[in-house]
Amino acid sequence: MGYAPWPNEAVAALRARGINGVAGNYDSTVATHYEHCGCRYEDPRQEQLAHASYAWTLEHTSADSKRWLGALPFSLTVRAKGGHQSGAKLVLVHGTPVLNTVYWHAERDDDFCRSMAEKAQLKAGDLIVFGHTHHPWSRVVDGMTFVNTGSVGRPKDGDARAGYVIAEHRDGAWQLEFVRCAYDVETTAAAIIAAGLPQEFAEYVRSGGARLDPL
Ligand SMILES: [Fe+2]
Repeated sequence: MGYAPWPNEAVAALRARGINGVAGNYDSTVATHYEHCGCRYEDPRQEQLAHASYAWTLEHTSADSKRWLGALPFSLTVRAKGGHQSGAKLVLVHGTPVLNTVYWHAERDDDFCRSMAEKAQLKAGDLIVFGHTHHPWSRVVDGMTFVNTGSVGRPKDGDARAGYVIAEHRDGAWQLEFVRCAYDVETTAAAIIAAGLPQEFAEYVRSGGARLDPL
């Protein structure tokens, strides 16, 4: 939704395909006209850019898109065989099971993961999937699997390709595949500039976040 010129088109694409998802901080703040986007920034220029993006997105997201975004759930749980037998579960959140604005980066220690697992009522064998930092990583702690998917629309690990994760439960274990998918970044960069968004956002998608600007 943020830092990019196609909020309504993104919503329409998800709706047309019936893709389930959870509310990211940008989704819930735009839907509720919250005072800021819930993004982190570390200096005045980043703050200025974050506010410019948020103001643009608030203005250009339709009432219908905002209604749809406002109805997104905070989390989704998928159970093996639909839940009529015991088995592993997959929990999906945006940031953490506590708030969608908390950054769960790879430097968080195992105790942080255990604490979040307790909030999500995970047990050994379960998987929790999240994003928000736009940096992909995974770890197993006490038999529970923690996966940050990275980002399709705005990677921040220096690789401009869209990133996502395929998680499959096979033979009693989670198989993870971290996928990177090249796309026409220049079309996106040109559309960002044509929309009147800051030039920095175009540079950001070109470099996969190698430039420092709003997180
Ligand atoms: Fe986020």
